Parts: sequence; structure tokens; C-alpha cells
Amino acid sequence: MINKKIGFIGSGNMAYSLIGGLISTGVNGQNIWISDPHSEKMTPIASQFGVNITNSNIELVQSVDIVILAVKPQQLAQVCTEIAADVINSRPLVISIAAGVLSKDIESWLNNQQNQSNPALVRCMPNTPALVQSGATALFANKYVSDEQKTLAESILRAAGLTIWLDNESDMDAVTALSGSGPAYFFLVIDAMEKAGVQLGLDEKTAHLLAIQTAFGASKMALESNDSPETLRKKVTSPGGTTEKAIAVLQDGKLEALFVKALESARDRSIELAQILGNDSAGSK
Ligand SMILES: NC(=O)c1ccc[n+]([C@@H]2O[C@H](COP(=O)([O-])OP(=O)(O)OC[C@H]3O[C@@H](n4cnc5c(N)ncnc54)[C@H](OP(=O)(O)O)[C@@H]3O)[C@@H](O)[C@H]2O)c1
Repeated sequence: MINKKIGFIGSGNMAYSLIGGLISTGVNGQNIWISDPHSEKMTPIASQFGVNITNSNIELVQSVDIVILAVKPQQLAQVCTEIAADVINSRPLVISIAAGVLSKDIESWLNNQQNQSNPALVRCMPNTPALVQSGATALFANKYVSDEQKTLAESILRAAGLTIWLDNESDMDAVTALSGSGPAYFFLVIDAMEKAGVQLGLDEKTAHLLAIQTAFGASKMALESNDSPETLRKKVTSPGGTTEKAIAVLQDGKLEALFVKALESARDRSIELAQILGNDSAGSK
């Protein structure tokens, strides 16, 4: 269990979800702080979990050991510039969950002109199922993060689901293409299966429930089985049977090649967006 003081800058959906996960693992609400300009967003979280709230990001940084940057990517440069002096003074572990913002940009915003803070920084890429504690989060630590801080960062993000460390930050673009954008691919498949079921004559509710439960059951089997997804697929594909017919149609349509193209396209956009986010915010230093 984490005994450090943890602060969230930004009290949106992700902060709420991570806080809920941390409390469920036994973290005391009194060890958690949130800051946000909107008191009306923080008050219900404080009532539910007994956490501390403030409108001042600086007060938050001065009160905690770990600062989690949970604002939108476009708001990150301004927040980092605001807290830079206090990060230099109190040297917390800084964790960014902002999608697509490079650690070199966060480091540069946290280093003010006079002082290099060399912040201990962990950059994460969670995905939306983190909101229901079933996320997949890739983490990258800069060279100032100690082993103890890595363990802490991992324990915090594990409250939102699976965590996995990357040795190279450049892999974050492939992660963004796979797990970051991945939930949308599955929603697309569920939706397509549901609509196909309706075309075959099922009523909407029946098609909807069957498509969702099938996706859930297949994921659960793939997670719990020692077999690869490919082997699991072959096991449910009897020669001459119905599944074989459907898979043949999908393979004729070059589904696998389509996924490679789709992920390459998402990865390339991730690289472009990181450059735009870094450049757009450069003026705020
Ligand atoms: N939601 C997801 O599933 C998901 C998945 C992966 C990664 N992420 C990342 O997680 C981060 C948070 O996402 P979210 O969905 O929780 O965002 P969100 O719901 O928009 O929450 C951000 C909160 O921060 C507040 N804020 C704005 N400027 C601030 C400042 N200067 N100081 C303190 N608070 C400030 C915002 O207020 P305003 O509304 O007034 O701006 C808002 O209440 C994002 O960077 C996103 O890329 C989210």
C-alpha cells in the first residue's frame, strides 16, 4: 500500500478514476490532494473519498510527494510553468498522464530559466478503460527516476488496470496506436457485429447484448488462457463449420493487413501530434 502523499492537478475523469482505484487498494483519502479551478468538480470527490482539495496548484505541489499531471495535453505547458519553482524546491516525483506530450517537453517546462530542476518524471499513456479500472497503461521513466519511484508510479497506475514499462519513449507512438486508440477499434467491431446481427433478423437489443458479451468473453478467455489468440481462434474454427466461413470472408478482405495500415497511420499521427503539442506550447516558457 502507498504511504506517500499523492496530488492530482486536474480533477477530471482520469483523476477521479485513479483516485477511486487508489482508495479501493487502501490508500487513505487524507494522503490524496486534488487541485482544479472548478471547486464544484472537486467537492463531490472530496465527499466520496475524503480527499483534500485546493484551487492552488502550488499549494498542492508543496503538500505532496508525488504530483500527477492530469490536465488536458494543451493545458500541460501552462501548469508545468506555474509549478516549476516549487518542483525545483521540493523535488516530487512527477507523473504525466497527458496523451502525446513528450517527456523532453515536460522537463523543459519544469526547468525554469535560472534553475535546472532535472525532475524525476514518469510519462504514461493510459487508455479509456482506465475509467472502469480495466485500462492498459504504458510507462516511461526519465533518467532521474529512482527504482523506488518507479515502483510507486507503477502502483498508482495499476489502480487503473494493467501497467507495462517501456525502455524507449519512442515506443509510446506504437503504444498509442495499439492500446491508446485500441478501444475504439473494438467498439467499431462490436458495433459492426451488432448491425450485422440486426441485418440477419435479430432485434437490436438481442444483437447488442450478444455482440458485447461475445467481445467480453473472448477477451476474458484470451487473458486467462495460456494459448495465443491465434490458437484460440483455430480451436473454435472447425473444418467445414460456420466460423471457418466467416473467417475466410474476413481474411479475403485482408483484415490483418488493414490493421497494420490502421496502426501505422495512428502511429504517424501520434508522432505529428507530439511535435505540435511541444511547439504550440513552447511560447509559454
Ligand atoms: N479520459 C481518458 O480516458 C484518458 C485516456 C488516456 C489519457 N488521458 C489523459 O488524461 C488527462 C486527463 O484527462 P481527463 O479526461 O481526465 O481530462 P478532463 O476531464 O478534461 O479533466 C481535466 C481537468 O483539469 C482542469 N484544469 C484545466 N486547467 C487547469 C489548471 N491550470 N490547473 C488545474 N486544473 C486544470 C480542467 O478544467 P477545464 O474543464 O476548465 O479545462 C478539468 O477539470 C489528459 O491529458 C488525457 O490526455 C485520458
